[in-house]
Amino acid sequence: MTPLARRAFLAACRGEEHDTVPVWFMRQAGRSLPEYRAIRERHDFEEVVRTPELAAEVTLQPVRRYGVDAAILFSDIVTPVASLGIGLEIRPGVGPVVDEPFRRPADLARLRELEPEEDLPYVLETVRLLVAELDIPLIGFAGAPFTVASYLIEGGPSKTYDRTKALMFSDEPTWHRLMERLAGITLASLRAQVREGAAAVQLFDSWAGALTPADYERYVLPHSRHVLTELADAGVPMIHFGVGTGELLGLMADAGADVVGVDWRVPLDVARARIPEGVGTQGNLDAAAVLAPWEVVEARVRDVLHRSGGRRDHVFNLGHGVLPTTEPDVLARVVELVHREGRTDGTVGDG
Ligand code: CP3
Repeated sequence: MTPLARRAFLAACRGEEHDTVPVWFMRQAGRSLPEYRAIRERHDFEEVVRTPELAAEVTLQPVRRYGVDAAILFSDIVTPVASLGIGLEIRPGVGPVVDEPFRRPADLARLRELEPEEDLPYVLETVRLLVAELDIPLIGFAGAPFTVASYLIEGGPSKTYDRTKALMFSDEPTWHRLMERLAGITLASLRAQVREGAAAVQLFDSWAGALTPADYERYVLPHSRHVLTELADAGVPMIHFGVGTGELLGLMADAGADVVGVDWRVPLDVARARIPEGVGTQGNLDAAAVLAPWEVVEARVRDVLHRSGGRRDHVFNLGHGVLPTTEPDVLARVVELVHREGRTDGTVGDG
């Protein structure tokens, strides 16, 4: 890869000039790769995360395969809170599960401040190993306070987030205190990753799309804004992503992001119009589209590129994470196609 291409990802995040549209994939490391499954046969998920050599290897696997423009640290959005000993584990095929979900004001005491050097030394060591090895930027990440809160309160994955909303609507002071603590943990984790060399960060508010704009603005935005504005000093681009957030895109930009992640439901040009100038976009190929015959994939990739309009502030990605059944060769071809046809025309759009 040429030096110019190497800087394409960071340039696009900042809306600076570059030639080729950069591309990476959320959940690019993981179960769609046979080399990941081979490692997982011998080590469970938490062991991979806690062993820097393994976590670094798994981070590098998709970089070697796909020729993507950025790597994303292998870890999980719940790794920081889990390190505080709150009884949280990640169950294969299920996701994060909490033994005793957070339901009462007294549960707040279970969340002390995060001290990354003591609580997450393996994550920081993984970042150091990767920064020494990579010639493309490393993306650090964290879960946004709302999405992490939803796991703590529901006790596991949810479709409706009813317990989370019940707490939010019935005990607003406790809700805000919980969100403040989680924002502190998120911020400490991101700052530490950047200190060790992460060149950009992504804040995953994956499940924020469950909220109305008014509720997002009142109960969530102040806390995500706190994280992003405090982190702005660190000087690295910040991407803010959620699923089903078509109605929240403007607010998510307003929280202080440099780039807003767009899921597959909103056509990219429509999303663009909802995001203020000066803030870039990331996305938004349907993750299921890559399961189709190549002609279909090709047309869908071109459609995203067309809707991005040659703007220099777009990062190509899926609309959500890589699905486990994805054929790795297809993602490699997507990267080639984006690099071949995704030209920026040097402008930041015409309005
Ligand atoms: O490649 C990458 O993107 C980097 C690693 C990464 C993982 N999780 C590894 C993982 C990242 C960035 C995440 C973020 C994450 N984790 C999110 C936000 C992204 C999104 O999808 O919206 C969320 C909501 C979680 C919580 C979580 N952790 C879920 C829902 C699951 C999946 C459960 C399952 O097995 O289907 C996990 C576990 C997890 N995190 C796996 C991986 C590779 C699978 C674990 C395994 O190998 O069994």
